[in-house]
Amino acid sequence: MNSDVQIAGDPLALPHLLPPVPAHPATVAGFVGLARAIAADRASWAPLVRYDATTRWYHRLRTVPGSTGPGRAAQVPVGYEVWLLSWLPGQGSGRHDHGPSSGVLTVLEGELTEHGPGGTRALPAGGRERVFAPGYVHEVVNDALVPAVSLHVYFPGLTEMPMRPRPRHRPAAGTPAAPRTALGAAPAPGTAAP
Ligand SMILES: [Fe+2]
Repeated sequence: MNSDVQIAGDPLALPHLLPPVPAHPATVAGFVGLARAIAADRASWAPLVRYDATTRWYHRLRTVPGSTGPGRAAQVPVGYEVWLLSWLPGQGSGRHDHGPSSGVLTVLEGELTEHGPGGTRALPAGGRERVFAPGYVHEVVNDALVPAVSLHVYFPGLTEMPMRPRPRHRPAAGTPAAPRTALGAAPAPGTAAP
């Protein structure tokens, strides 16, 4: 039997059917919509992008704390952060998870490669957003010959990014990984990036 998505298509693929992005998303679809809205607003991120051949470059675009009391619960039930990252050819994240955070990843320029539990997949600019839950383990690398830029939304905000050993059957990819990084503030240069 056909599912609703098979019959009607993916509503997230039809921009005119997407609900307007509220000031602060409160659902996974809302965070996907936020990532999509920021990606479309090139003027808001393109001038900020830098590349660093010596270490990973990243910039926190937005930090919204979670609700701290009943009065705010309806407005900001889940805190979140938005990060902008650049990837020179050969740079990578190392294999990691995202602690208690869920996330949305979308590529803004170039193409990245994700090694995850489902295998290896290409993430081209303008492609479908990747959404992951707490505990999701992956490694992202720029295997291409041109730089890439990506946008990451974490909800709640990223507090840690534990590095995970790479499976023995797959050779190293990208930059060597740091052992473990806490991300209460911007990560120290030379350590793992979001
Ligand atoms: Fe990640």
